Amino acid sequence: MTRFFLQLAADESEEIKLLTVTQLHQFYGGSHILRGLSFDVKIGEVTCLLGRNGVGKTTLLKVLMGLLPAKEGVVQWEGKTITGFKPHQRVHSGIAYVPQGREIFGRLTVEENLLMGLSRFPGSEAKEVPAFIYELFPVLLQMKHRRGGDLSGGQQQQLAIGRALASRPRLLILDEPTEGIQPSVIKEIGAVIKKLAARGDMAILLVEQFYDFAAELADQYIVMSRGEIVQQGRGGNMEAEGVRGLVTI
Ligand SMILES: Nc1ncnc2c1ncn2[C@@H]1O[C@H](COP(=O)(O)OP(=O)(O)OP(=O)(O)O)[C@@H](O)[C@H]1O
Ligand SMILES: [Mg+2]
Repeated sequence: MTRFFLQLAADESEEIKLLTVTQLHQFYGGSHILRGLSFDVKIGEVTCLLGRNGVGKTTLLKVLMGLLPAKEGVVQWEGKTITGFKPHQRVHSGIAYVPQGREIFGRLTVEENLLMGLSRFPGSEAKEVPAFIYELFPVLLQMKHRRGGDLSGGQQQQLAIGRALASRPRLLILDEPTEGIQPSVIKEIGAVIKKLAARGDMAILLVEQFYDFAAELADQYIVMSRGEIVQQGRGGNMEAEGVRGLVTI
């Protein structure tokens, strides 16, 4: 009995790891794209994954979402192995993904796009867009009857993030949300990410090539080069640890 309580105390004192990736490998044909990646994502934190073009960032996210099978390695979610889970099972478990290039439904309205994000819930709970989405992104309320395809790039990115948040994830994965977006919207997206992390009940895994944006948000940083993690540390140390030079051209 005493041992049981001691064990509980030890577990509680550890930081809560939502996602643990161990020795992940992936290939495209004969090209070895991910080469033994291992890292953790913690609750209440923004983890920024940085790296130049083509190093394997998107490939990693696709493996984490189950859109590509892992060739080797283990993905654990809240202590449970999910390496073989299908994408929808991961969404049901509380993981949401905003892909690079956004991929919203151009012919559906903003509201319809957001309702798609509720598909993990039973019908009765999936009829109305939750108010918190419109509170985070007021522009989506103004535009709710417009077609997704008519929105600006920045508004589409906000819509894609809003749709992902509608599933009430505990991990939000974002692939280069600032790519091709005007500075004022980048600021708004940054503020939302900060707000979500401050809530303390979810984690954010942010892939970014815009160094200043990543440095502003990161609690933890990871630098990838050619499919490997070449450096990692705490967000506040990014400048001192020379991350800018590793990821900017
Ligand atoms: N479907 C595919 N088939 C074959 N090779 C691919 C495929 N998708 C990506 N690659 C290659 O795999 C490598 C990693 O690509 P990935 O898209 O993961 O990089 P990335 O770090 O996300 O790059 P970017 O910053 O440009 O988005 C690149 O060399 C790319 O050309
Ligand atoms: Mg990419």
